[in-house]
Amino acid sequence: MNNPVKYKEIPLNIELPLPSNHSTAIETLNLEIPTDDLYIEVNHEDVILHLNRANMDTLTAIRDRFPESVLAQVVESVESIKSYGIKGKKRIFVDYNAERKVQNRKRKEEGRGKYFYTSGHPFKTHVNDVPDSFVNRIICRDSESTLKSLPDNCIDLVFTSPPYNFGLEYDQQQDEHFWEHYFEKLFNVFKECIRVLKFGGRIIVNIQPLFSDYIPTHHMISRFFLDEKLIWKGEILWEKNNYNCKYTAWGSWKSPASPYLKYTWEFLEIFCKGDLKKSGDRENIDITDEEFKSWVVAKWSIAPERKMKKMGHPAMFPEELVRRVLKLFSYQGDIILDPFNGVGTTTAVAQKMERRFLGIDISDEYCQKAEDRLKAGDR
Ligand SMILES: C[S@@+](CC[C@H](N)C(=O)[O-])C[C@H]1O[C@@H](n2cnc3c(N)ncnc32)[C@H](O)[C@@H]1O
Repeated sequence: MNNPVKYKEIPLNIELPLPSNHSTAIETLNLEIPTDDLYIEVNHEDVILHLNRANMDTLTAIRDRFPESVLAQVVESVESIKSYGIKGKKRIFVDYNAERKVQNRKRKEEGRGKYFYTSGHPFKTHVNDVPDSFVNRIICRDSESTLKSLPDNCIDLVFTSPPYNFGLEYDQQQDEHFWEHYFEKLFNVFKECIRVLKFGGRIIVNIQPLFSDYIPTHHMISRFFLDEKLIWKGEILWEKNNYNCKYTAWGSWKSPASPYLKYTWEFLEIFCKGDLKKSGDRENIDITDEEFKSWVVAKWSIAPERKMKKMGHPAMFPEELVRRVLKLFSYQGDIILDPFNGVGTTTAVAQKMERRFLGIDISDEYCQKAEDRLKAGDR
């Protein structure tokens, strides 16, 4: 036997008896949408929407045919329900709530000790302005020393992808010290990034899992930020789908002795300073409903940048990656820092998306290209 449908009951605010335009709209909806999905009941005292699931395309199309009717209220009520699942093209309501909703979430989180690893953090909430000489600028210098000239708490968001190598070659003398030097230098830059970040600001680092040397770079960098008492907001898996990565290196071919693992993806690790919530004005939000719903699912399929050869840089961000990060995690007018700016993808996209920016890179050649992109509007 089929389980009876469990509807959510939503009273509609409308006077009875119903004027004829409302009756026709309700009759049409009840006729055209399967009763198992939803229906409107009109009795002597109330008008009630019984909602199990809703295909929003169908619902809004019917509403548009009856613009002056109660159906506007029906669509509004369904849209205002924030907790739902998606099956096919339909939002699922009642069962989803019953199964998934955690009761007393806030109290339970406090009891467990929400992000306990940040307790006693040293961060202050005051805000400083970035000096004008650093706003909308590309600076060609070492980022650690450059950042030391900035006041603390002045940057809204850092988005960057660190170099794999700070000019220290894998030569015979330096081989065994290379990774220690690398992390020491990288963490000095990141300490400065944390200092200049505003309270509630975000630092988002793109890291490639390394399949040589067996160094879990993304774990080590994340460990560093946790030790510095930043809150881990989450991780985005950037699926590059680059299956053309070398398929000649198998480790131990067809043997469990030591097979190589291969990665077609990279990570974005997201950390917050002091608070998960970032303040900003609603009018400076530029993400659409559809973008938001799609991008909070933390696996992003974006092809690698195609212009790398033309731009002469081996590890550029694709613009789409920067666009999503900026829309999802920053407001228009925010100030965005990339301390390893390369040929300036972060700064070019920030400019296009009406954010302010500061890009730092040690290479003259890359900085010149970053400047050229800004001048050209990178179109
Ligand atoms: C992975 S690339 C970043 C590419 C960039 N996301 C883009 O789209 O062009 C890392 C960059 O860090 C720069 N870099 C290395 N050491 C640096 C330092 N000490 N200070 C500033 N930049 C540095 C390199 O020149 C390189 O361009």
